[in-house]
Amino acid sequence: MADLAPVIAIDGPGGSGKGTIAMRLANRLGWRLLDSGALYRLVAVAALDRGIEANDGVALAQLAAGLDAAFGVGDGGMVVRLEGRDITARLRSEQVSAFSSKAAAFPDVRAALVGLQRGFRKPPGLVADGRDMGTVIFPDARLKIFLTASAEARAERRLKQLKEKGENVNLPRLFREIKKRDERDRSRAVSPLIPAPDAHLIDSTELSIDEVVHKVLKLLEESGISS
Ligand code: DC
Repeated sequence: MADLAPVIAIDGPGGSGKGTIAMRLANRLGWRLLDSGALYRLVAVAALDRGIEANDGVALAQLAAGLDAAFGVGDGGMVVRLEGRDITARLRSEQVSAFSSKAAAFPDVRAALVGLQRGFRKPPGLVADGRDMGTVIFPDARLKIFLTASAEARAERRLKQLKEKGENVNLPRLFREIKKRDERDRSRAVSPLIPAPDAHLIDSTELSIDEVVHKVLKLLEESGISS
């Protein structure tokens, strides 16, 4: 059955490097990749376009249930389409980051996205990154990683990313936004950002991407999943 494909769950806060690590692993293993945060971000983009407020849980859940999203690969990396339009450039903006974190706190929004996320699980395997991959969406994942980094390090990484995209941001504001988003993601009643009991914790504050990938590959080897 397709749902027996192995899953590697990589959870953690924004800026911990989980997206990059997940992509590297998926490429290396030839497995599919699920960037679950992108789904919450897509709900945010769709809501902003329709003038739906971040506190309107009913409308947001409806949007999530009917999400018409497509993921592809272009010259510059992942391409994300919403209702056929390429919205990749908007996906990582601070406005969408803040909105998606608010939308993700509604249980009905989360429930509406469960089936879509589990649908990514296909042979030969799936690398899934997010907040609740190991706790809620794929509790039977073969390997669970919880990746952290200090809020300062994450703010600096985000600053670099956003500057490269030409967004006008400053470090103190980014730091405040990250702390606020962490607090919201950790304290929400449904699927809060917490490590699964069987997750391996990796702190990437002082580690390069290569060093984190190396650590995960070692854990993979130890867990018996071949690379
Ligand atoms: O990983 P990210 O920064 O792209 O995620 C955007 C928002 O979506 C984040 O604030 C929390 C939410 N999210 C979530 O609640 N559960 C997930 N599995 C992934 C993301």
